[in-house]
Amino acid sequence: MNLDIVILAAGKGTRMNSNIPKVLHRIGGDSMLGHVLSAARKLESKQIHIVVGYGSQQIIDEFSVDKDLQWAQQDKQLGTGHAVMQAMPSINTTEPDKRVLVLYGDVPLTNSSTLSKLVQQGSANTLSILTLVTANPAGLGRIVRDDLGEITAIVEEKDASEEQKQIKEINTGIMVIPAAKLNTWLNSLGNDNAQGEYYLTDVVAMAAADSDCAISAMVIDDENEVQGVNDKAQLARLERQFQMNNAEQLLKAGVLLRDPSRIDIRGEIETGSDVEIDINAIFEGKVSLGNGVKIGANVVIKDSKIADNAIILPGTNIDGAEIGAGASVGPYARIRPGTVLKENTKIGNFVETKNVIFGKGSKANHLAYIGDAEVGENVNIGAGTIFCNYDGVNKHKSIIGNNVFVGSNSVLVAPVNLADNTFVAAGSSVNRDVPSDNLAVARAKQRNVPGWKRPIKK
Ligand code: UD1
Ligand code: MG
Repeated sequence: MNLDIVILAAGKGTRMNSNIPKVLHRIGGDSMLGHVLSAARKLESKQIHIVVGYGSQQIIDEFSVDKDLQWAQQDKQLGTGHAVMQAMPSINTTEPDKRVLVLYGDVPLTNSSTLSKLVQQGSANTLSILTLVTANPAGLGRIVRDDLGEITAIVEEKDASEEQKQIKEINTGIMVIPAAKLNTWLNSLGNDNAQGEYYLTDVVAMAAADSDCAISAMVIDDENEVQGVNDKAQLARLERQFQMNNAEQLLKAGVLLRDPSRIDIRGEIETGSDVEIDINAIFEGKVSLGNGVKIGANVVIKDSKIADNAIILPGTNIDGAEIGAGASVGPYARIRPGTVLKENTKIGNFVETKNVIFGKGSKANHLAYIGDAEVGENVNIGAGTIFCNYDGVNKHKSIIGNNVFVGSNSVLVAPVNLADNTFVAAGSSVNRDVPSDNLAVARAKQRNVPGWKRPIKK
């Protein structure tokens, strides 16, 4: 297959009421253009071209890692036909079987399987159009057919007669066009129409007049796949649609969702068997949930791996972490990047961890900060314990052995090592290493003042 893809993304999107170029607005964590690109990449195309105009530098910067893209600049938005023209110089129209698939950067939810079908159904001499039959065709280009049902033209609503306005079959904008013919047709496009624009849709009448070119339409069933975004309300609607699609996939895979309408996936999620997810969970980036994992309400997990049978309790935030099998985290825990919780660990409410390896069976049940540390197995970190990892300039590390007990409200001033089986008395401020099997008491001795009189109000 000899296919080039042109994605139109030059429009400003005035109705978005935003300084961000329209196609950079996000659905499920990825930009609309990102979604279109993902679908496009699944097709076997020779080259993807993107036509940009408004905010072009911002868009190009956003995709700077994608070195394979061919950018075309459209300085003035003179219409969809004019936009495609900007990409033509970098398309080899001398190849007789070359075709061009036109996509819109603001139509984010088209399945690649739909595009692939559209491309497959035509030959090198077919212009294929993806159309939709809708009760509400307002504002869209109408598909004009003759008595035999053959497509003869697309007429934009603003140019349509009253009779044509009654047509319910509309142009989604997605088309596959033979490249050499497209090039010729674009060169003869005029802008003598209601909007004074160079309409890409005008090539359809030219194709109808060309005895060497067939026209075929593929009518799509799912309106959401071809829905464009012009304002924030449409963006929000497609976001819900996208999330509903995600939820359905998870349900199909056997995940128990307490409410499929209250889950957000902004990236990729992998799930094992018998996973349960309560309401309002948000998953960002790459997340994997092992078998039997339970996710509580209002949990946010980003770029993390949760191993088998771990339980994440409500209100917990996990970012860039590995949670071991059988671990219990939360409620209201904050697990920050570089955290590795080994098997059967327990992190309770209002505990924050960062850059820490937390050994098998170890616990920090409440109110603690554990940062830049290696913690051994079966360690107990008491409530209110703080790892002082930062001296205001540099970060330092704490190393805690196995079976260590750190009493409540202790401060471990890094760098510091607590060897195996050490015990830190509650309220200690530890800034020297503790050898194994020692008790460290690092607090002022208690003094009792007999007969102490409380102050009285003057
Ligand atoms: C277009 C179609 C219409 C179709 C509708 C589907 C034409 C003339 N009309 O109309 O038949 O029913 O889409 O949504 O093609 N763009 C550029 N440069 C331009 C103009 C547009 O890059 O100069 C891009 C826009 O950013 C957008 C896409 O092309 O991504 C479509 O443009 P838009 O203005 O929305 O076209 P419509 O008038 O809606
Ligand atoms: Mg539009």
